[in-house]
Amino acid sequence: MIPDDLEVIDFNRRLKSWYLENHRPLPWRETKDPYKIWLSEVILQQTRVAQGMPYYERFVEQYPTVFDLAAADERDVLRLWQGLGYYSRARNMHFTARQVANDHNGRFPETSEKLLKLKGLGQYTAAAIASFAFDEPVPAIDGNVYRVMARIFGIESDMLSNEGKKEFAAVARQLVSKDDPATYNQAMIEFGALQCVPASPNCMACIFKDSCFAYEHQMQGQLPVKIKKLTIKHRFLNYIIIRQGDRLVMHERRGRDIWKGLYDFLLIESKAPATNPDSLTILDPNFQNFLKKGRLTEVPKVYSHILTHQRLQVRFWWLEIPETERIDLPHGMAFYNHEEVEELPKPILIDTVLREENYL
Ligand code: ADE
Repeated sequence: MIPDDLEVIDFNRRLKSWYLENHRPLPWRETKDPYKIWLSEVILQQTRVAQGMPYYERFVEQYPTVFDLAAADERDVLRLWQGLGYYSRARNMHFTARQVANDHNGRFPETSEKLLKLKGLGQYTAAAIASFAFDEPVPAIDGNVYRVMARIFGIESDMLSNEGKKEFAAVARQLVSKDDPATYNQAMIEFGALQCVPASPNCMACIFKDSCFAYEHQMQGQLPVKIKKLTIKHRFLNYIIIRQGDRLVMHERRGRDIWKGLYDFLLIESKAPATNPDSLTILDPNFQNFLKKGRLTEVPKVYSHILTHQRLQVRFWWLEIPETERIDLPHGMAFYNHEEVEELPKPILIDTVLREENYL
């Protein structure tokens, strides 16, 4: 998997000659000033080259050195950033400028390892500055570079997983030119941006056509592999099973939430486990009214329910209303007798609880 020395030399030779012929003359490529390189990278994390260029130029003009940015009013920095979005990035940038100005006498640390200690600088940015400004032979791996490496060298591990990242980093360390890491890193980024583009790359016109793994196996669409982790939402559901004789109050679920069209009970969702039902009364005024009319008993078991994107922790309480009481039910809720409850479409969880509680 890791290319040998000859492959590395050949890869570097081809990549560099492609870059020298094809790259865009961008202003941050004409400088060795780490401050300007850092500015460009922060802006380019937020936007594309074409949109980022005027921002870069305005920042460099208004704040030509890290001392100028450090001394700036935060409001002016945010104003200049306006339109790029994600304003905490601008605030972090301002903070880092003061860190460099005050703690480092205005000089950016000269290795990626030391740069990483500055606020808001990740692996990629630290490596970009260290290689572009100080010629440290460290690979700067952004999304473009992941794509180029995965395709050419056939790296099929998930670029978002820790193991995948390690594998990419190992190949990248091998590939990075020890003679001219600055040009190497710019070239990898540029090659990904212009030639090895995400969709429909023009492989017929590619310098790596005779050796590219993805081209050979027609896997341009599958590489790089990015397995998005599902973000799991934790929810706390509290159900009040209102009972009068053998009848239960059931609620028809509508809207865009889970279990649409199925029937459950009066539901009060809380942000944390609700061990005390009193804490639920403020969340639902109906519950507060119902409580006055009946007797509450807790179902001791706490249920866990797992859905694709959600983990539910669910608690139940019975609320017995004497036959003599009349209660007004809100829209979407009604009393159903035993047979009807049996017949209604219900989430499995609701069915299970009714069985375990010996109602069904
Ligand atoms: N995107 C991120 N860094 C870049 C750079 N140095 N040149 C072009 N595009 C980039």
